[in-house]
Amino acid sequence: MKNYDIEATWHYHNGTKHPNGMLLNRFHVFHPSHRPTPYKIYKNAPQVSLPLDKNPVGTFTLDAISTIYNTSNSTILDLGTISKVLYFSSGITKKIKFPEPLGEVDFRAASCTGALYHIEIYLVCSNISGLDAGVYHFDPKHMRLDTIRLGDFRGYVTSSTADEPFVRQASAILIFTDVFARNSIKYQSREYRHAFWDCGTIISNTLAITSAHKISSKIITGFIDLQIGKILGLDIREEAPIVILPLGTTNHDAPACPSLQEAIPEAIASDYEIEYPEINTMHDASCLLTETDVESWRHEITREQKDSTNIIPLGKNVIPKEPLEQTIIKRGSTRKFSLESITLDELSTILSQSTKGISADFANSESLSDIYIIANAVDGLESGSYYYVKEKNSLEQLRKGNFRNASGNLGLDQDLPYDASVAIFMLIDLDKMLKQFGNRGYRVAQLDSAIIGGKMYLASYALGLGATGLTFYDDIVTNFFSPHAENKEAMFLIAIGKKEKPT
Ligand SMILES: Cc1cc2nc3c(=O)[nH]c(=O)nc-3n(C[C@H](O)[C@H](O)[C@H](O)COP(=O)(O)O)c2cc1C
Repeated sequence: MKNYDIEATWHYHNGTKHPNGMLLNRFHVFHPSHRPTPYKIYKNAPQVSLPLDKNPVGTFTLDAISTIYNTSNSTILDLGTISKVLYFSSGITKKIKFPEPLGEVDFRAASCTGALYHIEIYLVCSNISGLDAGVYHFDPKHMRLDTIRLGDFRGYVTSSTADEPFVRQASAILIFTDVFARNSIKYQSREYRHAFWDCGTIISNTLAITSAHKISSKIITGFIDLQIGKILGLDIREEAPIVILPLGTTNHDAPACPSLQEAIPEAIASDYEIEYPEINTMHDASCLLTETDVESWRHEITREQKDSTNIIPLGKNVIPKEPLEQTIIKRGSTRKFSLESITLDELSTILSQSTKGISADFANSESLSDIYIIANAVDGLESGSYYYVKEKNSLEQLRKGNFRNASGNLGLDQDLPYDASVAIFMLIDLDKMLKQFGNRGYRVAQLDSAIIGGKMYLASYALGLGATGLTFYDDIVTNFFSPHAENKEAMFLIAIGKKEKPT
């Protein structure tokens, strides 16, 4: 099977690294006037308005991000809860005016590289209160659903996952897709990493809001790509399904599926036709083709634990009583950090609450990524580099010293990682992931790291701090944390600190 020819991933991953101290393609210019329309537009699709109630359901952010809710005792879904799940995952939470040609920009619930919003969300559901069974597209601009097909099509999704039990019993299923050109117009072939970074930050929100509403969910990354593309009517060279998230439970088996032959409404996914063959090649190489492929692919792995020395216990957890919805609405990537310190208790809370794990078809409740930290300014913690020993909820000191310059340098020589109190890097043993999961392990590795990053965003804002995702020079991150990080690849970076107050 092509999926296990893992040279394809190494070729893509190594070929899209920012070479040390330089951008992958220094000469590429993206002009803001070319910013693509940041959502898909359906022509003539019947629409369903989404009611929007932003009132908190009463769960604190830090509880919501740290609780895995995947029991069979799930809240019954209705249009109101679906609407909240979609809004707090990817709805428009603020508008900011910029000088022309950009003008007013809608910002969303989760962070996204370049604010290009290339991740779309679809819903495949049974009859639920307020909504007929069907296949729908979420339109965040108008807070409504575009109807793509009417009828109960869950059976097709279930069979594409080789009858995955959570998918089979779900009353609604979210499908996250990536519109390549909407992000590659700026980031070129690196886009395929961004697909999973930006889907991961959205899914952190989705998991938090579903857990707050006691809706069971599970991340599904193993499915027949083409079959899902067909249900949604996608041209998968342009827009590819990347993650499935079944929601809720029902006792009724999905009825026999209606035909997929009927024409569906036309849509424009991207204003531009831009192809980077590296992206399509990488995506194709990680596709699963049959139910047998999916079944034999699916297994859960656990993180390898390492012996640690120089262990420093973390501080105590601070649990601010801020409701999740409030945190999501106020979140936004920090554009300037003050050089002030955060406390060890704050750092401890962010680390422990963001890494309580996930329910996924590739990991049994535990995240797979390793966490490395540069502490620039943390009261109660010596400046230096650290490894987070999750199983002991402690830090292992790797090196002492003032590493602000290194922190800025690793984060693409930007001020943000220099000024931040901490820079937190997610790294992973990619070779091991690929041996376990084939090329599809690349999707899993990027996604797993990004979900932790997304949770860290929420934890930081709940604590009244600021945070921003950042890009990095790949190999010098590994070098900086080696020998501890030897043979690991950098997947995600988030900088956290105090926001500079406007003067
Ligand atoms: C994975 C990731 C990487 C990012 N990299 C950078 C970066 O290198 N520099 C930067 O200034 N912002 C970076 N950002 C922040 C985005 O520009 C920001 O999320 C986007 O403009 C949307 O704004 P918001 O997060 O305030 O909603 C990154 C965000 C993510 C999720």
